[in-house]
This record gives sequence, structure tokens and C-alpha cells, in this order.
Amino acid sequence: MEAIPPPPPRVLIVDDDESVRDVISVLLREEGYHCAVASDADMALELAEAEDTPLVISDMKMPGKDGLWLLEAFRDKHPDTSVIMLTGYGDTEQAVDCLRRGAVDYLLKPPKLTDLIRSIERALAKRRLEMARKRYQKKLERKVRDRTTELRSALKDVSTTYQNTLLALVTALDAREHETSDHSQRVVEYTVAIAQRMGIKGPELDEIGRGALLHDIGKIGVPDAVLLKPGKLTPEEWVEMRKHPDIGFSMIAPIPFLAIPSQIVLSHQERWDGRGYPRGLKGNEVHIGARIFAVADTLDAMTSDRPYRKGTTFANAIEEIKRCSGTQFDPEVVSAFLDIGEAQLIKIKEDMVARKKQRLAEATQKALAAAAEAEAAKKALEGAN
Ligand SMILES: [Fe+2]
Repeated sequence: MEAIPPPPPRVLIVDDDESVRDVISVLLREEGYHCAVASDADMALELAEAEDTPLVISDMKMPGKDGLWLLEAFRDKHPDTSVIMLTGYGDTEQAVDCLRRGAVDYLLKPPKLTDLIRSIERALAKRRLEMARKRYQKKLERKVRDRTTELRSALKDVSTTYQNTLLALVTALDAREHETSDHSQRVVEYTVAIAQRMGIKGPELDEIGRGALLHDIGKIGVPDAVLLKPGKLTPEEWVEMRKHPDIGFSMIAPIPFLAIPSQIVLSHQERWDGRGYPRGLKGNEVHIGARIFAVADTLDAMTSDRPYRKGTTFANAIEEIKRCSGTQFDPEVVSAFLDIGEAQLIKIKEDMVARKKQRLAEATQKALAAAAEAEAAKKALEGAN
């Protein structure tokens, strides 16, 4: 099949002198160009608006808006249109100005046909190249954008996987010690709320949250006989129990992603007055994340039910934390904690319970759907046999 030749390029001739317009358009039509004519700048813009116009040949001197004005208007509204300027003798300075402002060429009036054709062909070839370059650039930009999106989503997946792995680990740990699986996650919520109140945000906030989540990870290394003992621990058993910050630290410190959380794990049992363990650090020597965590952990420990006792009210727990400001806890952290207020703290806990219920309901729904699907598949198989 023969290829259909492309339509002849449209050339718009702009001149206030009718005879010039006629001569040029007749000459160009004979050469196969499709011509349109305009007697002034406004009419030229109207025509360009109505139909794609790759090339304009414009007179420089026209009454009212002149060729330079039109040139600028085309640069602005139709940057893909090439403009050739026609100038009279003695206008060379202005002609150079035209080139500087984006005209592709200028010709002296009246133009010779050969010069005119050569100039038009050069202008159209240049335009084709320029448009191909633009298309290529756009394609490249789109590719870069797509790749960036893919990369971002892959990174987010990795980060979610990390977080879920940590959660699974901590949930198993919580289940072993507390018979409830939410202690660590609740402590994270309280810790993050206090940290935010202190103006901490961004990656630092994430690291502190992760440290709070993993705080007791070292209890994996504490024997059941000690960790789960219902009564009081003997001094020897306390020695075992107090190893858990060091065990946790050595577990996660080598993981670069957990370098800062490992500092919080190591110092989560320290106290503001230096009477904590394992190193007996004092005041600001204790990582800020651990100082915040200490308050959050006490709040959750006091307000949660345990097998051997019922949890106390938030109001009582808040009073107790206030009482221990400056001894067990950093006063600045306590002050931020008090700013949050009882109602908001209760809400944090209730929201967590609601989210958990929601997740459970969704998981049940999914399991039921999967079971129904399996049943249908089984029936289909039986039918086929
Ligand atoms: Fe601990």
C-alpha cells in the first residue's frame, strides 16, 4: 500500500501591503505550500488560533502592532511556530534584534523566490528537529517520573515490611509476658504523642517510636522462670531480669536501621535521678527517647489490667507521674505529658482498641471469603469428576 503523503505545510503570510501578500502566496502555492494571509498582527493571531500554523512570514513594519510585537506574541502563545521576518533596507539593526528575540531568519523585501524557499525549508527542518527533541525530552521526563514512583513505592514496601516484622516480633514478646499483646504498641502511641508535644517530628519521631516499640525486646533472653514468675523475684533473679536492656541492645545495635532505637532500648530502664539501670545514667545523659518512653511505659503499666490486679484510672496514673517528676522522670517530659491531658490520653487508648477491632473484623471477613471460595472450588471439582 502506498503511503499517504503528508499535507503541505501551512505558511501564514502577514503584511499590510496586499500586493506583497498576493505575490508571496502565489509563488509559494506554486511550490506546493498551503498559504494563509493576514493583513495585520491581530488577524494573524486569530488564524493561528484556528489552525495549526508551523510557519509565519511577517512584515516588520505594519501600522499599529508591528512585526516585532507579533514575533513576541507568537513566542508567547505558539512557541512551536517558526517566524521569518521581512525587512526593508536600512533595517539591519532591527533584523538582528529579531533573531535575538527568536525569529528563525530575516529576508530583505522583496524576497527572491530561491532565498524565500531556502529560508522556509531551513525553518521547517529546524522546527521538525526541535519538536522531535521536545518529544524525546518529554518521554525521558515521563520515564524518570515513572521510575521515581516505582522506586518510592518499593522503598515504602521495604519499610512496611520492616515495620511489620518488628511488630510481629514484639507481639509475640508481649503475648509471652503480659497475656495481652498490645502493651508495646500502646506505649508507642503514648511515646509518640508526648514527643510530638515536645516538638519532635520527622525521622527523629519515627526512631523514637521504633525504640519504644522494641524497648523490651531483650526479654527474649530472660528465662521463663524469671520473666513469668508470679511472685517476687529473688536478688539473683533480679540480676537476670536486669540484663534485658543489654541483651536487647546487642540484638538490634548491629542493624543500621535500628541504631538509634537500640540506644533507647539500652537506656529505657534508666531514671532521671540516676537510680535506674543498667548504667545508672542521670538527667540528659539518658536518651531523650528513653526519657519520654519512661513516662509512657508507667502510664500504660498503671492503667492496664494484669492477671493479679486491676489497672488504675488515668487520673491516678497522671497524679503518680506528676509526683515522680524530677526523680524518676524528666520534668520537661512530664510537663509535655500533662499538656496532653487525661481526655486525650484515654482517647489514644480507645482509638487503638477500635482499630484492633476493625482489623479483626477485616481479617475474619477475609477468612470467611477464602473459606467460601475453597468450598466453591471443591464443589466445582466434584462436579467435574
Ligand atoms: Fe524493660
